[in-house]
Amino acid sequence: MEARPALDNGALGREAWSVLGANRTGSCTVPAPGLYPHQWNWDTAFVVAGLARWDTRRAGAELLGLMEGQWRTGMVPHIVFHPSHASHAETYFPGPAFWRSRDHPASPRRVPTSGLTQPPSQALALWWVWRHATDRDEAAALVRRVHPMLVAQHDHIAATRDLGGGGLAAIVHPWESGMDDSPVWDAPLDALPPLHPAYRGREPHGEPHGEPHGEPHGEPQTGHHDRYVWLASRYRDSGYDPAYLHDHPFAVEDPMFNGIWLASCEALAELAPVAGADPAPHREAAERIRAALLERLWFDGLFHARDLRSGRLSPVCAVGSFGPLLDPGLPSDRVDTLVGVLESPRFMGAAGYPVPSCEIRSPQFDRSRYWRGPSWVITNWLLLRAADAHGRTELARLLAAGTLRLVRQAGFRECFDPFDGSGRGSRDFSASAALTLDLLADNVAV
Ligand code: GLC
Repeated sequence: MEARPALDNGALGREAWSVLGANRTGSCTVPAPGLYPHQWNWDTAFVVAGLARWDTRRAGAELLGLMEGQWRTGMVPHIVFHPSHASHAETYFPGPAFWRSRDHPASPRRVPTSGLTQPPSQALALWWVWRHATDRDEAAALVRRVHPMLVAQHDHIAATRDLGGGGLAAIVHPWESGMDDSPVWDAPLDALPPLHPAYRGREPHGEPHGEPHGEPHGEPQTGHHDRYVWLASRYRDSGYDPAYLHDHPFAVEDPMFNGIWLASCEALAELAPVAGADPAPHREAAERIRAALLERLWFDGLFHARDLRSGRLSPVCAVGSFGPLLDPGLPSDRVDTLVGVLESPRFMGAAGYPVPSCEIRSPQFDRSRYWRGPSWVITNWLLLRAADAHGRTELARLLAAGTLRLVRQAGFRECFDPFDGSGRGSRDFSASAALTLDLLADNVAV
């Protein structure tokens, strides 16, 4: 456990602002110094949501910065390499030279990007800005400008990612989940064919994972990093062709990705009147995703990821299993069951701090390896807002209070040991700092 005096709310808030100030580079906030020196997709949504109640203008600028990377297909890439970050561009692997976005005619001309996406969390963040805006006119102008871009993002997902034909979106790479090393991807990755030696040892990285920016995520135990690179290059070499994805060897329907997509459809519907658009198609999309989630991923009292290549549901339960709680229309009996599992010793009940990223009793659980056990502010925040939306105020309070204890004691780390609360991964992680600002605005009793 790191020795550091617990901070009061005022000091915690000042520290969060200073992290967000230091991580602002050019037109956007990067997730962390050193390790992640570019603009990331869902990190931006969390920074935007965190700023919503404090600074409408900056929240809008962050979102617009990400949307500069949107492709004309509607795809919002998982990384945007702004020219202001050029000096870092090739220290991060895989960088622009790997993704070759400019070879694709629909990619933006001004900024290179990756060719994958991440959970479509931007509409959710925009709705949070609209609900809490400090400047209503600024927020309305932002909604009018960004809403059509987000509609295009959703249309692209619906048109290209229903690889199972049942109404859900499939991710085609673990990085698209945002929960990169989750054991949920182990089985589909282990089923890939043996790799050419050229791909061995290609670990994605920014600066070395050492001090002062953070600690190692742990040696890759699973040997999956080379598979990550191989999978991404297969898709790239197809010219990022959606038709190719039907044969791509990795395709998984993830409950968190789809839960976020559904909640973002509801958000687009809520925002439609502000943007002068019709809410009906977004409500219909939400209903379709809700029905598909229940039909395709619900089993034995929980949502599970479905590997489309084997047809099997994942035996590992992870924090992503609770993603559909983000759906305000999830039937209340399912909400009760999910909350029961979340509060049980399988997840929160046996941990000192919310919410372990993997079920504690699972053989793959590891309290130190990222996405294989540690708790994250970002998933805690999603789940506490979901709990609020279902009127589970005590659960929301517990999640918020536990999250604030983590950052008070260990700082704005990327993730935390769920038993003793010590920090893991990068330091000065923007999403952790920004979402803390959102929690501070609630004045949670700790
Ligand atoms: C890691 C995390 C992912 C995040 C990215 C940038 O890859 O797993 O969730 O978006 O870092 O912070």
